[in-house]
Amino acid sequence: MPPTNNSLFRRKTIAAILANPPADAEGHGGSGGGLARHLTVRDLTGLGIAAIIGAGIFSTIGQASLNGGPAVSLLFVFTAIACAFSALCYAQFAATIPVSGSAYTYAYTSFGELAAWIIGWALIMEYAVGNIVVAISWSDYFTGLLDSVGLHMPRWLTMGTQSAHTGYEAVMALMQAGQPLAAASPAQLEAYTAWANAPELFDGLRLVIDLPAFLITVAITALVYVGIKESKNASNLLVVLKLIIVAVVIVVGAFYVKPENWSPFAPHGIGGVLKGVSAVFFAYIGFDAISTTAEECKNPQRDLPKAMMYALIICTVLYVIITLVLTGMVSYKELGVGDPLSFVFAKVGLPKLSALVAVSAVFAMASVLLVFQLGQPRIWLTMSRDGLLPPVFARVHPKYHTPSFSTIVTGIFVGVPALFLNMDLVVDLTSIGTLFAFALVCGGILIIDPYGKSDARFTVPYISGRWLVPVLLLASIYLLKTYNAAGNHEFWLDASGQHGWLVKEPITEKVIGGFAHQIPTMVFILASLALVVVTFRKKLSLLPVLGLLTNMYLMTQLGINNWTMFAIWLLIGLAIYFTYGYKHSKLNKVAVA
Ligand code: ALA
Repeated sequence: MPPTNNSLFRRKTIAAILANPPADAEGHGGSGGGLARHLTVRDLTGLGIAAIIGAGIFSTIGQASLNGGPAVSLLFVFTAIACAFSALCYAQFAATIPVSGSAYTYAYTSFGELAAWIIGWALIMEYAVGNIVVAISWSDYFTGLLDSVGLHMPRWLTMGTQSAHTGYEAVMALMQAGQPLAAASPAQLEAYTAWANAPELFDGLRLVIDLPAFLITVAITALVYVGIKESKNASNLLVVLKLIIVAVVIVVGAFYVKPENWSPFAPHGIGGVLKGVSAVFFAYIGFDAISTTAEECKNPQRDLPKAMMYALIICTVLYVIITLVLTGMVSYKELGVGDPLSFVFAKVGLPKLSALVAVSAVFAMASVLLVFQLGQPRIWLTMSRDGLLPPVFARVHPKYHTPSFSTIVTGIFVGVPALFLNMDLVVDLTSIGTLFAFALVCGGILIIDPYGKSDARFTVPYISGRWLVPVLLLASIYLLKTYNAAGNHEFWLDASGQHGWLVKEPITEKVIGGFAHQIPTMVFILASLALVVVTFRKKLSLLPVLGLLTNMYLMTQLGINNWTMFAIWLLIGLAIYFTYGYKHSKLNKVAVA
């Protein structure tokens, strides 16, 4: 039974959502919400791939490979497994509740309103904040391309204020220490140039902005504003281009692989590999985004689950192969660059192919921007229909049938910070927010259908987790320990054919506030023990439990600083909920009436 209507756990029933989705603020919609139904399974798979392959594989994989070595390919496999559990749960929800709103709507029916609000708020991290990353990364490739054809934008118009200032300070510190400029990295020198040549505003503050990141966001927002059909056509085209170039990278790159580059496989042990969690997980974000278009699908119950799994499988295969090709072509030590995919081809003497990859990255990332600029307004539209956000967020454009106001707000929310912010910060925030949402979606399935008995057109296959969950957990702990030990050894081979293993130093870091850094791990251990006990007693469904555990484990790896920032974000969200959403919720109004 749903709790009473003034409860924080008041729930929407699935039947009510399906029978009568509320109209938007202008009175459009009702059961179709006023959105046009154009999307087929092929379009949806395309949209999934469009959202998945982007800044993660074109950019952030570089730093992950530098830290983890070729073993990052295994992290791609592990992360894909975690995503697959989540995708199955998303798919069941999408088949059960085929309306816009994604994890937010799903949480509303399983955990109740407060959790739904929290998840909707966390999804801003995935969609809007994630798009800040993609816009910044897009700008890096774009300005690199302009440079390669001799068009040089002033550096102070091509990077965020934060990055330029940090680089400038680093170079100044080197110079004060009497070091030559050559001691700085190319990225630091670029930041120094940008800051030193920028117009001064006041008090030492300089005008350094990432103009291309802002402009691409404006352009994509305009496209999304005009309509889903136009967006779909643009997206399908971009996906084909993207897949062709990824295939070319793999096939051509394979000829340049030197297997000796795969040794050492995990030069910094499992610690080094796990430093890449944020970047690798970021590369998979997107398969869930298609669930926000449920009201624009021709047959959402049948097509959404299929499309999510297809997109995830295709991308996993491509990612694992690309990682092996990249780390086989050059030493992992050289991969700490922002454009690793084009860099490796320049490195093996194929400059034309390198430029072609750079051009394709520009297209690839534009398509990711498109999907998330499309998804965020639709989540806000749904939240507004429920009364948790002001009615204007549900306004649908009379001519274009798109959520007009929400689309413009998304454009501002992404475009303006992209002018100023540093990429690493936003990658971590995106990953932690998304993992949190995925964990809740898996938990949601355990609540609405713990034994796989739903009659939805797609259900997560039921396997009892009673014995398998504890056994798999113990096996994982054992494997992690063994692999960690193996990863700390480096294979050596000399000219005479002698070979052996050297023990490597794991990456050691200065840990500030040692105890605080243990908090995520302690939370994980306690939560997983509780989950094992409940699963054992109630024979819960294995796959959603594994989804919950793997997402929580990946969250653990993101560290206390990101947990703190994310907690602050959630607190701001809660303050907004209690001052606005709680009172204006449609469920609250039902109670008053
Ligand atoms: N998976 C998307 C990307 O890598 C977000 O750009």
